[in-house]
Amino acid sequence: MNAKIALTPGDGIGPEVVDEARRMLDAVAAKFGHTFTFTEHLLGGCAIDKHGTALPADTLAAARNADAVLLGAVGGPKWDDPQAKVRPEQGLLAIRKELGLYANLRPVRPHPALAALSPLKPERVAGVDFIVVRELTGGLYFGTPKGRETLADGSERAVDTLVYTDSEIRRIVRLAFQLAQQRRKLVTSVDKANVLESSRLWRKVALEVAHEFPDVKLEHQLVDSCAMRLITHAPSFDVIVTENMFGDILTDEAAVLAGSLGLLPSASLGAGRRGLYEPIHGSAPDIAGKGIANPTGTILSAAMLLRHSLGLAAEACAIESAVKATLDAGQFTADLGTKSPLSTVQMGAAIRGRLE
Ligand code: IPM
Ligand code: MG
Repeated sequence: MNAKIALTPGDGIGPEVVDEARRMLDAVAAKFGHTFTFTEHLLGGCAIDKHGTALPADTLAAARNADAVLLGAVGGPKWDDPQAKVRPEQGLLAIRKELGLYANLRPVRPHPALAALSPLKPERVAGVDFIVVRELTGGLYFGTPKGRETLADGSERAVDTLVYTDSEIRRIVRLAFQLAQQRRKLVTSVDKANVLESSRLWRKVALEVAHEFPDVKLEHQLVDSCAMRLITHAPSFDVIVTENMFGDILTDEAAVLAGSLGLLPSASLGAGRRGLYEPIHGSAPDIAGKGIANPTGTILSAAMLLRHSLGLAAEACAIESAVKATLDAGQFTADLGTKSPLSTVQMGAAIRGRLE
């Protein structure tokens, strides 16, 4: 097949890890007889430096014109001034919103070879296999009113708003149920219904959606106790569906189960097939340019791209198996605390070398 893939490497380690994911996709194309065309675009801090905006119009146009977007990471200390009018993160939020990517899928399946690396006891990590479905274009990140004002007495006031419509909730909860149907048939809907009105609407809609899926069990859980259960009983989760900000926090926590933030991929999807794929880690400015970043999360994001945007399930599995075989062989980057770590480039090559 022919596919157009827009790359937005972004900032920090973004370009290093995206390079390896692109090489991986090239290897898949060669092996399976596909033609992938790549274009590269600015997003985040690098776009602010060049164009004064985190999401330039031509980047957005290229993303709309592509079958999928593969993103590295955005942000860094250079752009971290809290007073700044433009921020790298705005580019990421804007591209998600503009492309209508309301569903962020973050699978968490710790690799057995890495169990000892988790700060948790191995028995708490064994058998963990769940996916977080994070609502991505609503909730606390996007609700209005939002902003800052100086009051008459000179004091300052800031406001963010957590708002959802029933249709925004319904489409994301439905997606969670559809995923659960192909898995262990349990949806955990996470909210703060003992305090928030938006969560009470979320619960009501989740219950309605559950009637459409009699084969799937629905449970509700408060976000604070969910945070605890992720540490104490993580294997009990199958599909977690939740509000934007809750999902942001819970997925960083969940990454600890996997041993390193550098391993986890994500897919952001909307109504059509086009999606945006990115590792869940950030730009890691402390190690940027050193060639030691772990490209695995981005390479696994490329696998999700093949599966969800291009419908190439066998190719996606081939990448996932190659990653597994590489980790099984004890080949890791430095974040996984090995005595003789591979560089970013070596890790990419090691995974490609196991592509079957
Ligand atoms: C993530 C990140 C982003 C988010 C930031 C960089 C805006 O933390 O993708 O989880 O909060 O969504
Ligand atoms: Mg986050």
